[in-house]
Amino acid sequence: MSDAGSEQVGRIVTRPVSAHLERAVSERYSAAAVRTEPGLCCPVDYDPRYLEVIPKDVLERDYGCGDPVRYVREGESVLDLGSGAGKVCFIAAQIVGRHGQVLGVDVNDDMLALARAASREIADRIGYRNVTFAKARIEDLALDVEFVDRHLRRHPVTSVRDLADLEELAEQLRRDSPLVPDASVDVVISNCVLNLVATDRKRSMFTELARVLRPGGRAVISDIVSSVEVPEALRGDAHLWSGCYSGAMEEEHFLDAFRRAGLVGVRVLKREDRPWETVADVQFRSVTVEAFKPVSLPRLDGSLAALYRGPFETATLDTGGVLRRGQFVGLCQADLAAVLTGAYRDQVVLRDSVAVVALPDGSGCDVTPGCC
Ligand SMILES: C[S@@+](CC[C@H](N)C(=O)[O-])C[C@H]1O[C@@H](n2cnc3c(N)ncnc32)[C@H](O)[C@@H]1O
Repeated sequence: MSDAGSEQVGRIVTRPVSAHLERAVSERYSAAAVRTEPGLCCPVDYDPRYLEVIPKDVLERDYGCGDPVRYVREGESVLDLGSGAGKVCFIAAQIVGRHGQVLGVDVNDDMLALARAASREIADRIGYRNVTFAKARIEDLALDVEFVDRHLRRHPVTSVRDLADLEELAEQLRRDSPLVPDASVDVVISNCVLNLVATDRKRSMFTELARVLRPGGRAVISDIVSSVEVPEALRGDAHLWSGCYSGAMEEEHFLDAFRRAGLVGVRVLKREDRPWETVADVQFRSVTVEAFKPVSLPRLDGSLAALYRGPFETATLDTGGVLRRGQFVGLCQADLAAVLTGAYRDQVVLRDSVAVVALPDGSGCDVTPGCC
């Protein structure tokens, strides 16, 4: 936090959103779980093969704005942030197959009830069960909110002392039995949810997203971004906020937030040319962004250098290191971890035999010329 309740997200300074906006989100999605709300739907073409086993009431409650699940692969463990009625989780379940795992997280009881009911039916249809749903805020993925709900039914908070005890319990749960442990997920996906998180919690949301990814894992996020910073007047509008407009981050700051959380190789996989909507001259459009958690490396001694293949003259890594086309330049440890991660890997040639690096995907990599 910088000053009096404001926080730096990307390069903008934002003020906390008031509780009434969070309540508006909760009420709107509870209603939208019971009855389809067309105003929340943004047409997306999913692979029709995967829709056949999904019940109609789930398909009708499609409140996404992109298709992050098409980037998921067989055998992966997937976390879906803000899973809603569960459609994206059920598609992911079929892509990852019986050896993969899918966890959908949502804070809304009505959405969770819908998703859990469908989950049993889908398991019968596909012949295995690899999807679970949990209640949590995506900005606090360590805390199992259902556990806290049960505790509160037995021990309601009626005094400041009770409140302190509750806070202590929450801390203990996060520490000793985190709902989503550190480095436990291959790929974090999300479809039209990050914008709904309160402005003063967006930073922790990105930090949590990075925390739960295993080294070398990736995030693939579809969300709504704005063409300019959303004006204060729109930010206070509960209907526009819960409708996925007012909480949208300005596009450049959205991309930069992944880098600030320590992820690298941030790139836009899909960007809608046409805005989904324009409100008060602010364009709101859907983007799908990919970002990687750097691989973890043993401490390496000696000089490391990488040559950039091009096509640009220079390339700046998300760690700040600058690569030059056709020229070996020295790398620090963080730069090396970055260039061995995700989409960067094919862009460089490494020089200087220093060590054998065991990459988390099991492909050992001898750091010798031309190896990676
Ligand atoms: C626009 S809907 C998208 C649902 C789903 N991803 C889909 O594609 O249909 C947003 C969902 O995010 C959930 N949500 C909003 N804020 C949340 C938060 N802070 N933590 C967890 N879930 C949240 C809502 O309950 C709702 O189910």
